[in-house]
Amino acid sequence: MSVLVLSGIKFAYSGSNRKVLDGVDLSIEKGEAVLISGPSGGGKTTLCLVAATIIPTRVQGDFSGMAELMGQGTRKLGPSGASEYVGYVMQEPEFSMIMPTVEDEIAFGLENRGREPAEVAVAVEGVMTRLGMEGLAGRDPRRLSSGEKQLVAMASAVVHKPQLVILDEALSGLDDDKRALALAELDAMRQGGAALLIAEHAGTGRQAPFLSARRYVLQDGRLAEEVSG
Ligand SMILES: Nc1ncnc2c1ncn2[C@@H]1O[C@H](COP(=O)(O)OP(=O)(O)OP(=O)(O)O)[C@@H](O)[C@H]1O
Ligand SMILES: [Mg+2]
Repeated sequence: MSVLVLSGIKFAYSGSNRKVLDGVDLSIEKGEAVLISGPSGGGKTTLCLVAATIIPTRVQGDFSGMAELMGQGTRKLGPSGASEYVGYVMQEPEFSMIMPTVEDEIAFGLENRGREPAEVAVAVEGVMTRLGMEGLAGRDPRRLSSGEKQLVAMASAVVHKPQLVILDEALSGLDDDKRALALAELDAMRQGGAALLIAEHAGTGRQAPFLSARRYVLQDGRLAEEVSG
């Protein structure tokens, strides 16, 4: 079953004629990982925003094409409708952090989704243990290092077991140990049926073999599949 289907997606930001996305076709099935690389300014973050339904519902611009998440049109679904299905680690995660402690920050999304306090406590402790971040529980998320912020953002994005995890340059600030833990968590989710959309600068993508990802380059508004060799 397709988790995400994008077909003929075109998008230009409001006030600009340039089509950042100019005919993007991509579908991601349950249990699949897709890695998107490409030059800076090539549109990776824009594509993540489309997958997360933030484009076209919250960001102004000229959008066309068909985008479906779990079989539902993203324009209708919108970010709140999509939040059950999607975990999104944004390129600049501090902008999405609002709670006073790391523990509260990770719990926030679950509480917001109406989960019981006991279930929230178990889930938060579990993900913090798996990502090796127990020592951060009482810290202020905005005062962490960039790598630590990425871990908090990742924990917050996966704690509700979404069907689609979107990672926008989300592993770049992690040291090798933490990266290995993050990849293990992502791979466990993938094997449990989650789809992964991973955006990374050109030349990186060290995680692709680990996650058996399909790889694409996003350039001039279009995706080209990389043939592994
Ligand atoms: N809110 C916005 N309004 C207008 N133009 C924007 C906006 N956000 C991004 N752009 C432009 O859209 C293009 C694609 O940007 P995007 O952030 O998607 O690229 P990227 O591949 O994620 O780059 P990076 O590798 O630097 O993260 C760039 O030319 C950028 O300047
Ligand atoms: Mg980007």
